[in-house]
Amino acid sequence: MSNATHLAQRIQNLQPSAIRELLKHSKMPGVISLAGGIPSSDLFDKEGLSLATEKVMEEQFLDAFQYGLTEGNVLLRQQVVDVCRQRGITTQTDNLLITSGSQQALDLLMRTLVDEGDIFVVERPTYLATLQILGLTGADVKSVGSDERGMIVDELEALLKTTRIKGIYLVPTFGNPSGTTLSAERREKLVKLAAEYHFVIIEDDPYGAISFTDKKEKTLIQIATEQGAEDHVVYTSTFSKILAPGLRVGWIILPDWIKQKVAIIKQATDLHSNSFTQALAASYLTLSRLDKQIEVIRGAYKQKCLTLSALLEKELGEHIQFNQPVGGMFLWATFRYDFNTTAWLAKTLSQGVVYVPGEFFFNDNPDKRTLRFSYATASEEQLFEAVKRLKSAL
Ligand SMILES: Cc1ncc(COP(=O)(O)O)c(C=O)c1O
Repeated sequence: MSNATHLAQRIQNLQPSAIRELLKHSKMPGVISLAGGIPSSDLFDKEGLSLATEKVMEEQFLDAFQYGLTEGNVLLRQQVVDVCRQRGITTQTDNLLITSGSQQALDLLMRTLVDEGDIFVVERPTYLATLQILGLTGADVKSVGSDERGMIVDELEALLKTTRIKGIYLVPTFGNPSGTTLSAERREKLVKLAAEYHFVIIEDDPYGAISFTDKKEKTLIQIATEQGAEDHVVYTSTFSKILAPGLRVGWIILPDWIKQKVAIIKQATDLHSNSFTQALAASYLTLSRLDKQIEVIRGAYKQKCLTLSALLEKELGEHIQFNQPVGGMFLWATFRYDFNTTAWLAKTLSQGVVYVPGEFFFNDNPDKRTLRFSYATASEEQLFEAVKRLKSAL
């Protein structure tokens, strides 16, 4: 008998990420990648991070190298309260848990909330890694469609009339992969539905700060607080896209009814997040450089986004349609006719350019005409070359 029979049942059917397999070759020399959802490392604030590191050694040496609290570095949590306040969110250190990126936040939350067979709702399309996490919990995942105004909340309402759901996961602002933002009206309605039908909303907000305009939607947690429904929203965010992902520092705002349980799961998982990088993030925040850093990122991504959008419109506009992103890192496009973007990838790869085929972001009913481009890491020149290559691969 093979040793594989020792694997837990829920693990046995676990498949390696199809995207990883497809994009294995994307690191070959000369290949331009519009695939990865990673921030531009050219923009990392080297000077600020160096200063912050020195400050850690001088002022927080012991905290940075010792075991710490499961909930996270106290100074960092105080700073995160301020970051949240700037986003219109009122919270306090007691309701904050520092996590190893928002990826861990999502894992901890799903493990805390979901029993096998529970119905959990996601957007169509949604963030792939959340589908993986939900797969591990044994949730019965249902999806709700989205359009240029984000998740179609009326479709969710129709589902709620017949089905009891445990919760819903969404990236309401500059979503990954869709790039779209949930409209104000839909936000209000979604929070009302959560209170009426008694389910939990997980609001994943890694990109909200990276806006290309001055228009700002309220977060769902802010709306919930205004409506007296704050128990229904759990908000998570991260320093990955606005400072540096290698720090692995994110956070969750936890309503009282869930905070202790999530902390226990966190404790069982890793005791606490990395003490050094938490201290470093806290120290960086005391330098008051984050706002300027966010401005730099907004400006750079906006420019690249405009370049990519204009090129796609001009060179491929008769083949694909897309909404011009107004923030974040992603441009989501759909072929105007029946087309398989997964099959096309082999061709574009041979021309030296890659993207992520859209079908992997769907829990069900995949739309194979879709694809996701990220404009964050490529240079302007590479964007020109990438679109040229895409065109010749058609
Ligand atoms: C929607 C979304 N959520 C969560 C994450 C995880 O980010 P991190 O764990 O680096 O904070 C990402 C990263 O790409 C993301 O796009």
